[in-house]
Amino acid sequence: MDKVERNKLYEEAKSWVVEAGELIRASLDKKLQIDTKSDANDLVTEMDRESEKFFVDKIKLNHPSHKIISEEGFGDDLSTLEGTVWILDPIDGTMNFVHQKRNFAISLAIYQDGVGEIGLIYSVMEDVLYHVKRGEGAFRNKTQLSPLKDHVAIEESILLVNSSLCCENKRLNHTKIQELVKTVRGTRSYGSGALEFAGVADGTLDAYISMRLSPWDFAAGAILIEEVGGVITQIDGSPLDFFGENTSFSGNPFLKDEIINNYIELK
Ligand code: IPD
Ligand code: CA
Ligand code: CA
Repeated sequence: MDKVERNKLYEEAKSWVVEAGELIRASLDKKLQIDTKSDANDLVTEMDRESEKFFVDKIKLNHPSHKIISEEGFGDDLSTLEGTVWILDPIDGTMNFVHQKRNFAISLAIYQDGVGEIGLIYSVMEDVLYHVKRGEGAFRNKTQLSPLKDHVAIEESILLVNSSLCCENKRLNHTKIQELVKTVRGTRSYGSGALEFAGVADGTLDAYISMRLSPWDFAAGAILIEEVGGVITQIDGSPLDFFGENTSFSGNPFLKDEIINNYIELK
């Protein structure tokens, strides 16, 4: 994708993200219909669907040849990233949206033939937009993000984990994860994968490990993180899979080796 085309798509995508953010904020005054998906804690609201529909209608109208991967079922059923593919999570952190009315985001990415070109993560209630055009820098609103530090001692690092890592996920050696949690300076868990990736990119988190992420959770975050010199892979170091569920590690390359080699043991 050339720079002119990328810039045009970026401006368009950004304006839709901001508009969808306004719709979501306005919905907080209404009583929302809340349903569940795979289990009782996997929440979805009418606003997740409305926000996704809003983007899908705009993309299909303005770019009929582009494809869409999205969470709530209005996108396309794809098996390749050929062509121009938009990857959307209309509300990332739905549990926060329902319970806290904050700490959730819209995550939107545009890939061209498998290469991440544009990433947008909009923290709706903070009105903070993380944005990146490949090779042109990553930003938090108007502030350019610095490259990640080359080296962070694991004892001085802030690690993002969620409870599924420490106790629920049967694939992991939990004793090792407990050791990791005791070794790092502190742990955090925000409840929105997109904002967690944004935190890695802006350096407020040093590493993030997760066991169950879909392409719409990481597509924009991956572009942001790579733009600042970070890495993002599955937790065995293999590449992310855009057509399935993923484990993930993100952070600086030094911590990746340190954590994957010493603390991750998959059964
Ligand atoms: C979820 C959030 C959460 C992560 C889950 C995701 P959703 O997305 O990103 O932080 O731990 O794995 O499914 O369902 O709120 O869009
Ligand atoms: Ca999500
Ligand atoms: Ca979602």
